[in-house]
Amino acid sequence: MQDFIKRQARPQIFNLKPYTPGKPVEEVKRELGIEDIIKMASNENPLGPSPLAVQALKESLDSIHVYPDGNCFYLKHKLAEFLDIQTNQLLLGNGSDELLKLLVETFVNPQDEVIFASPTFSEYEFTATIMGAKCIAVPLLNFKHDLTAMLDAIREQTKIIYLCNPNNPTGTIVSRAEMDGFMAQVPGDVLVVFDEAYFEYVESPDFAQGMDYLQDYSNVIVSRTFSKIYGLAGLRIGYMVAHPEIVAAVERITEPFNVNLLAQVGALAALDDSKHLSASQTVNREGKVYLYRQLEQMGLKYVPTEANFIFLDTGQDCQPVFRELLSRGVIVRTGDNFGFPTYIRVTIGNPEQNQRFIKTLQEILKI
Ligand SMILES: Cc1ncc(COP(=O)(O)O)c(C=O)c1O
Repeated sequence: MQDFIKRQARPQIFNLKPYTPGKPVEEVKRELGIEDIIKMASNENPLGPSPLAVQALKESLDSIHVYPDGNCFYLKHKLAEFLDIQTNQLLLGNGSDELLKLLVETFVNPQDEVIFASPTFSEYEFTATIMGAKCIAVPLLNFKHDLTAMLDAIREQTKIIYLCNPNNPTGTIVSRAEMDGFMAQVPGDVLVVFDEAYFEYVESPDFAQGMDYLQDYSNVIVSRTFSKIYGLAGLRIGYMVAHPEIVAAVERITEPFNVNLLAQVGALAALDDSKHLSASQTVNREGKVYLYRQLEQMGLKYVPTEANFIFLDTGQDCQPVFRELLSRGVIVRTGDNFGFPTYIRVTIGNPEQNQRFIKTLQEILKI
């Protein structure tokens, strides 16, 4: 069978590095036999889902025998109003992951090139590799996108440039002046994807949203999600905003019912839940201040973040630190698969989770 797969499968699939997701709580419970576990590994919302979304979902359960609206009519209208755009500028997907994949399936040929930062969110490399594209990973400079080097990497074959803003795993952003200069120099036929999965957490007044460039640049695509601040990761729903012709091209290859009924209902209600949104921002802001203070007292370096996670230097091999944290019920992400073998990425939690993370880290590092 192995020979059969080698012979018959597309060769590109053997170039893929498998995605390492944050360990699920249930798996850790089973493996380690501990009950009291906190997951600070996947940048989920520590307040849980929007209560308005939960209520709407409960009320919709009796309708799940019918197919969802394939065009997401109500959600598209609501989002368009919310974002002050036209409905034909919107794509909805089974998480923004699906939209990132649909985008390369629509635009990327084998031998085309895509450019992204390193380290950054792994989905760009994953999806482009499936299509047989050449991936150009441009190292971060001081944990930030090196836009000059990314511009230098553009060639005739370049199809897409990804800007993860704020960047996962570092939490850094590109300033408005940098972004203005960059956009002015990117050729018009190279797509620029602004992945803004975490933009609702940004506090810096210097943040340049992709939406601000849509008017002037038809090659801009903004990708966002309901998984993070809206707390709907389990439902799988995200959206992209782009020029109507880009949207129409991607729609050609989209499955008829790619956004399930509950995801549409949950997202619609969550958009009304400004109370949950601002509570989520507050808990993140306060958690960030607390964690910064504690890390400074412990003498640990960290990258100041504009997102809901912190990339920090444990000062030693991250693997034993990760395992010790895990054995005490605290799940984080290791930095080694991001090329930073002494770092870990921790999601900013609620006060209780943050305190437990710090206390456990102090025990392990003996500081
Ligand atoms: C930068 C970034 N983009 C996109 C995603 C995927 O989000 P979704 O749950 O909408 O697929 C994530 C998830 O962690 C992410 O970190």
